[in-house]
Amino acid sequence: MNWKLHFADDFRIPRTVRVWLIAGLVMIFMQIIIGGITRLTGSGLSITRWEIVTGSIPPLNEAQWQSEFELYQQTPQYHKINKGMSLGEFKFIYFWEYFHRLWARTMGLVFIFPFIWFLWRGMLSRRLLPRLLVVVLLAGLEGFFGWIMVASGLINRPWVNAYNLTLHFCMAMIIFGYLLWTIFIAYQPAPTPLPVNGTMRRFTWIMIAVAFLQIAFGAMMSGSKAGLFYPAGPICRAPSCRPFCWIAPPGKPKTF
Ligand code: HEM
Repeated sequence: MNWKLHFADDFRIPRTVRVWLIAGLVMIFMQIIIGGITRLTGSGLSITRWEIVTGSIPPLNEAQWQSEFELYQQTPQYHKINKGMSLGEFKFIYFWEYFHRLWARTMGLVFIFPFIWFLWRGMLSRRLLPRLLVVVLLAGLEGFFGWIMVASGLINRPWVNAYNLTLHFCMAMIIFGYLLWTIFIAYQPAPTPLPVNGTMRRFTWIMIAVAFLQIAFGAMMSGSKAGLFYPAGPICRAPSCRPFCWIAPPGKPKTF
């Protein structure tokens, strides 16, 4: 058996591989949407354990639902926000967190098995291989950060830690951007450089960095619920929001 790996030419990446990469990108985009819905429906803390394999099977009977619900009823979120919630309402929030994690598992399967097959068949190029290994590593880290974030909301505060949420959200952006760039390389390994001067190139990178920072601050704002404390838009120190400042002194709101 010849174990030597073979590689495709950078300029002849098989169409199957390119379609697979695009499918991966679409799945990550959908995971970002599902993650947003999970957050906006307040579903993020409904599943209190992280069982990578067995967690794929949802509660299948009343007894299993009851035991999942009892675990949730021990969380700060249940006591401080959802006290008296019905099993039906719990099933709704459970669905979104379960679906978010199931989609993450599905992405893992859709990525790992074809990756091994394409590598085995010599359908990947030397340039693509390390990039795809980075994508797998980042996605694994993202899942781990997802759990760290959930765990941060199971101790005393009834929601996830804003820093962990920002990390989880930003990592999703980085994976999306990195895979998109990898797809560009798979289609155009040696693109003709655009006739732009250095200043324009620097300006473009600065704009990308500013946009990324703005996304991170957005996640920080939503994670820390800062909008509740400074609901007066950009001039947050306007007299109208004075009363709020006493609840949460500037610089250390109690919600992080
Ligand atoms: C590659 C896999 C994943 C991606 C790309 C991803 C992405 C996201 C995104 C973009 C959000 C929305 C953040 C926001 O609205 O600010 C989110 C929310 C969330 N994710 Fe993930 N996620 C992934 C895997 C996971 C895993 C494996 C877990 C848990 C073990 C997890 C737990 C959560 C939770 C709990 C929320 C809601 C946070 C809240 O309630 O505030 N994620 N995810």
